[in-house]
Amino acid sequence: MQRMLVTGGCGFIGSNFIRLELQTNPNLSIINVDKLTYAGNLENLADFQNDSRYQFARGDICDKEFINSLLKDGSVDAVVNFAAESHVDRSILDSSPFVQTNIVGTQNLLDCSRQHQIKRYLQVSTDEVYGSLGDDGKFTEETPLAPNSPYSASKAAADMLVRAYVHTFNFPAVTTRCSNNYGPYQFPEKLIPLFISNALQGQSLPVYGTGLNIRDWIHVEDHCRGIGAALRQGKVGEVYNFGGNSELTNLDLTYALLEALGKPRTLIRYVSDRPGHDHRYAIDATKAKRELGWEPKTIFQEGLRQTIDWYLSNSAWIERIKSGVYRSYYEQQYGSRLN
Ligand code: NAD
Ligand code: TYD
Repeated sequence: MQRMLVTGGCGFIGSNFIRLELQTNPNLSIINVDKLTYAGNLENLADFQNDSRYQFARGDICDKEFINSLLKDGSVDAVVNFAAESHVDRSILDSSPFVQTNIVGTQNLLDCSRQHQIKRYLQVSTDEVYGSLGDDGKFTEETPLAPNSPYSASKAAADMLVRAYVHTFNFPAVTTRCSNNYGPYQFPEKLIPLFISNALQGQSLPVYGTGLNIRDWIHVEDHCRGIGAALRQGKVGEVYNFGGNSELTNLDLTYALLEALGKPRTLIRYVSDRPGHDHRYAIDATKAKRELGWEPKTIFQEGLRQTIDWYLSNSAWIERIKSGVYRSYYEQQYGSRLN
């Protein structure tokens, strides 16, 4: 593989993926297509701005002409689609951009990729399309889709389009579904970076409901390695689940963060629950191990320590976000809940 078009590369996982790919594949070049929504940040890949193998193209994945203009010279071997509206709470406030980018945007990328005979397409999806688990069991690739939030519904719709393009047009797509990521460059609306930065500033940590909801945490680098493996070795039409083998209640995670930061538990504030809040996610990644030789490598405690250290060393990165584009959302989301 010589040339990739990656969408959403200025976000959290996309920027980590581009960094890992360029660091490990000297002959690879990447075009990063990103609309630069509130979640897109050029700073995330500032270290590559003078690298001739990296090109940034600002634009929308829903824009057919723009995407076609990037694919038309036939030099792109693979398309990897990270671009999405990614935050569940925002999808509850307004689902329109989720339907537009996650569904219509995916459909447009599929059409453009098909038109230009792209050899490989990877759809980055989420375990949230499977819905919610009780206290037992894990999601396998055979678990029926049962999305519960507007976010996960829009991701599931995109997965169904990918599936249909494989079936109808023999389109060479692979889909990956991963559990909750953590690591550097995560936008501070998500639990881990939000709580780290709030705790450092002595602000409350808003725990939804009882705090007993369970998530399976995976380090972003493990996820990105899995996407690289699925892209190169995955079978067309298949889905691969990735998880971190690190299930934690939100409350236990919050305690671990506070302890690592040397901050008191009195910062915790129980706030009203997220409507439709999924109880538990857990992943069975046996297929990825068997077919791709992939498993998560990062031990959660070590990954969390490294992540905290990254946020401590990059406090200016997070503060620029929190004082700028993020501010009005934070006030809307938490203002009345925290008062
Ligand atoms: P993010 O919100 O940090 O980044 C999304 C990026 O997409 C941003 O750079 C944004 O500017 C860009 N974007 C949004 N709309 C666009 C459009 N119309 N055209 C072009 N660019 C657009 O998200 P993330 O956490 O990095 O997630 C990336 C992908 O991984 C998403 O598809 C998400 O569903 C999936 N995923 C995320 C997680 C997680 O834990 N964060 C877990 C599993 C899967
Ligand atoms: P989040 O990081 O938004 O990821 P997702 O909803 O995709 O799993 O949330 C992770 C968990 O943390 C989820 O159970 C909701 C909870 N949560 C809080 O308790 N407080 C918060 O302020 C946020 C953002 C999330």
